[in-house]
Amino acid sequence: MTTLLHVSASPRRQDSESLALAETFLESARRAEPGLAVDHWDLWDGTLPPFGPEAVAAKMAVFAGADPEGDAAVAWRRAREAFERFAAADAYLFSVPMWNHTVPYILKQLIDVVSQPGMVFGFDPDEGYTGLLTGRRAAVLYTGAVWGPGRPPAFGEDHLSGYFEGWLRWAGITDIDRVSFQPNLATADAAGAREVAHRQAAELGGGFVASRAA
Ligand SMILES: Cc1cc2nc3c(=O)[nH]c(=O)nc-3n(C[C@H](O)[C@H](O)[C@H](O)COP(=O)(O)O)c2cc1C
Repeated sequence: MTTLLHVSASPRRQDSESLALAETFLESARRAEPGLAVDHWDLWDGTLPPFGPEAVAAKMAVFAGADPEGDAAVAWRRAREAFERFAAADAYLFSVPMWNHTVPYILKQLIDVVSQPGMVFGFDPDEGYTGLLTGRRAAVLYTGAVWGPGRPPAFGEDHLSGYFEGWLRWAGITDIDRVSFQPNLATADAAGAREVAHRQAAELGGGFVASRAA
């Protein structure tokens, strides 16, 4: 049985385009694998810990081969708990709006919390990083309303998919599929593009767990 973690980065609930795409994906995935276990991590639900001074002190202590102490130890435990929830999945669905050309800050916070030595990555001074989250698959649903492929620079830049998928690959998750719904809402009627994106999300969801099981 597949355990799928849906990480959602939009706070817009019923108005969210990326959450609606995720619903379409999941409906299809559940049809393909009725026993599919889905954990939904709404990053705005208040459970994601901060990664501030104490956590950074802990990370530096661990890098130096020491054990974090006091408040740093508490922050490190919270980061480890977040990592454990993240790493418990063997497949991922990320629903990710573009915010100011890249990921919403809450998703960057998740990345900063879980990207720890001995958890997400290993490090060797000569060989560099090794991603430790291997053997997992990811689907990413991107939304936006201004930037889109082929639009001129005045519509912004794409630091979203390159950054996010670069992080996934760095973490060891190299099997990545994506659907994008990025109409220019100022001019385009988005209905057609939305329909196409939902169809693509349904196709991806239907094949996603089935091809993992194969
Ligand atoms: C804070 C914020 C920043 C945004 N920045 C961009 C941007 O840089 N480029 C873009 O194309 N759309 C941008 N948008 C529009 C959203 O990406 C778009 O509304 C998308 O549908 C949001 O996904 P959601 O409906 O799942 O929340 C921004 C929206 C917000 C709220």
